[in-house]
Amino acid sequence: MSTPVNLEVDLGAGLILRNPVLTASGTFGYGLEFEPFVDLRRLGGIVVKGISPRPRAGNPPPRLVETPSGMLNAIGLQNVGVERFIDDKLPPLRERDATVVVNVFGQGTEDYVAVAEALDGKPGVAALELNLSCPNVAHGGFLIGKSPKAVAEVTAAVRRVSRLPLWVKLTPNVSEIVDIAAAAADAGADALSLVNTYVGMVVDVERRRPVLANLTGGLSGPAIRPMAVAAVYQVARAVKIPLIGMGGIVCVRDIVEFLLVGASAVQVGTASFNEPGIAARLVDELAAWCRDHGVDDVRELVGAIEIPR
Ligand SMILES: Cc1cc2nc3c(=O)[nH]c(=O)nc-3n(C[C@H](O)[C@H](O)[C@H](O)COP(=O)(O)O)c2cc1C
Repeated sequence: MSTPVNLEVDLGAGLILRNPVLTASGTFGYGLEFEPFVDLRRLGGIVVKGISPRPRAGNPPPRLVETPSGMLNAIGLQNVGVERFIDDKLPPLRERDATVVVNVFGQGTEDYVAVAEALDGKPGVAALELNLSCPNVAHGGFLIGKSPKAVAEVTAAVRRVSRLPLWVKLTPNVSEIVDIAAAAADAGADALSLVNTYVGMVVDVERRRPVLANLTGGLSGPAIRPMAVAAVYQVARAVKIPLIGMGGIVCVRDIVEFLLVGASAVQVGTASFNEPGIAARLVDELAAWCRDHGVDDVRELVGAIEIPR
């Protein structure tokens, strides 16, 4: 009998995941909703819906529209707020031995710090993932994630109040993602997640109106995958901390593609809307892919792309 493939990956700051397949924030609720379809323990981790200091109702509908090979969403960061998350969601997740990464968002540094402080020392949180794709209310509404200075400020502020492994999630809606990545790494991020959604718009031409109530939304799914892969490739060459890649993963070759360009782990997002159990299925398929390709340890694939000279 052949030895089993090692799927464990090291995401820095002492965090070892049982395998490199996580579910992406906003596409897997708080994990518990998916229990009928997935044994949560089998996943590398669950990144929960973005959590803010206080509950939020999100945007008015319509908030979702299907697009060619993808989906446009403008949910508006609906969530239960950090207190209810700690009281109602975290204990059952902990009982199930799930690896839980808490995605955090806010409209200024104080919001990120408040959520990080509230979660500090709470058992069952494996890491924080900062979603910096929010307008900064204190500074004229620009997206925090578009400014290296603002990214560094938020990252450093959270670093000061939290001992948890700290991931910073990058928006791809910038001209130089490498500059943003470097700012986050220099400010103390332990790992970087990329990418968030791309800005998109769909128009109902009969009514001559935008389909989404928010006018624009975030594009996800296979339509964005080549752009996301390129972003991971570029960032991997510029920073030394581990990367978690995502954008349009629907099958095992997509996972291997992200690993080869330098991701140590991946997140599956929109694909869970089509098949709620897909992330767990892909864990098994990744092990089988490695076995078929003579790969004993999945870490051998990370950054193993060969660039022709
Ligand atoms: C409906 C929906 C809600 C999302 N909510 C969040 C969120 O709360 N925080 C966040 O960082 N990313 C959020 N995202 C972005 C995803 O986590 C992921 O970065 C993106 O969808 C790309 O991966 P995919 O193509 O596999 O879906 C959301 C995506 C979708 C489709």
